[in-house]
Amino acid sequence: MTENDFVPKTLSSDVSDGLVTWKAPSNIALVKYWGKLPDQIPANASVSFTLQVSATTTTLTYRKLEKESKDFSFDIFLDDKPKPDFAPKIQTFLSRIEKYLPFLKTYHLEIRTTNSFPHSSGIASSASGMAALALCLMEIEKAKNPEITKLYFDRKASFLARLGSGSACRSIDGELVQWGKHKGLNSGTDLYGIPYPHKTHPVFTDYQDTILLVHQGQKQVSSTVGHALMEGHIYADQRFRQAAHNLERLKQIFEEGDLKSFIEVVESEALTLHAMMMTSIPYFVLMKPNTLRIIEHIWEFRKRTGLHPCFTLDAGANVHLLYPNEERKEILAFIKDELLDFCEEGKYIEDQIGQGATKLA
Ligand code: DP6
Repeated sequence: MTENDFVPKTLSSDVSDGLVTWKAPSNIALVKYWGKLPDQIPANASVSFTLQVSATTTTLTYRKLEKESKDFSFDIFLDDKPKPDFAPKIQTFLSRIEKYLPFLKTYHLEIRTTNSFPHSSGIASSASGMAALALCLMEIEKAKNPEITKLYFDRKASFLARLGSGSACRSIDGELVQWGKHKGLNSGTDLYGIPYPHKTHPVFTDYQDTILLVHQGQKQVSSTVGHALMEGHIYADQRFRQAAHNLERLKQIFEEGDLKSFIEVVESEALTLHAMMMTSIPYFVLMKPNTLRIIEHIWEFRKRTGLHPCFTLDAGANVHLLYPNEERKEILAFIKDELLDFCEEGKYIEDQIGQGATKLA
């Protein structure tokens, strides 16, 4: 498939108005996307767990305008309150996707969005937010052309979401999603996320993710700035090669359910992401002292018990603690006894692998 396959050919013009609601999950990358080419093309392929609890729900009300407007016509609300500071990001998103949804300026769009997690929790809402909005906008295309297939709908929603925020393209499907072409594995595409195309062991179907909120509040480095740090980064080429190698390693690990190697790849990916930020110009340290304390405790607990908790990080201080469901009881007790002291106000989110986005109305 190419970009041009997403330019619609037949669209009815007599769809006047409608209301749709989609809930899209957040996702956590195991092999990280960090560094991109123009048009939101990733510098390397990535793979993520789709989450279940952390999600954005968006209701889109669309109403046909008397005549096409010069600019996009939309209002945006977060938790039922106007949110003008989201407008520039939405504006950029709509202008990037207009070629693929050429009717956008013929409607007024009212976008009402809520997150299941607190806005200032330090959990990025751009992946789930852009995915939910892309799905809602695809409903207008579907109303104008009811013939489109579910596969086309999902792929195009992922394709559009990617143009809003790269990682958002991994928030349409469950449970494991690959985004990016991997030459060695001969799988994936840079255009949209796909359900992980290789075999996975049952241990991964109900994997747990407890998100430890070490630092709530705005991200210190926006992802746009972060990705740009990889341009001209002295380690960029090695890093992109390493990501490809890690994705290749994961194929066998996912197939065999080899948790020891899984931990090695996932923790190394998280630390490399942060190492890239520490070695770029300008440089950043996004971990907090409590991030490191949690990591030390995880390593010590693993050694002591032989169980399999493993951490990963986003471009921030919060820790995602991943573990198999069958170890849930012991690991939740460990979290409560030893890790919550390092979380801001003792806060955490109990999440797990999810099935992807759902249409609510
Ligand atoms: C560290 O998808 O937020 O979470 O495409 O600029 O919106 P933009 O970036 P974004 O980057 C995510 C970076 C990451 C790793 C990952 O999710 O793969």
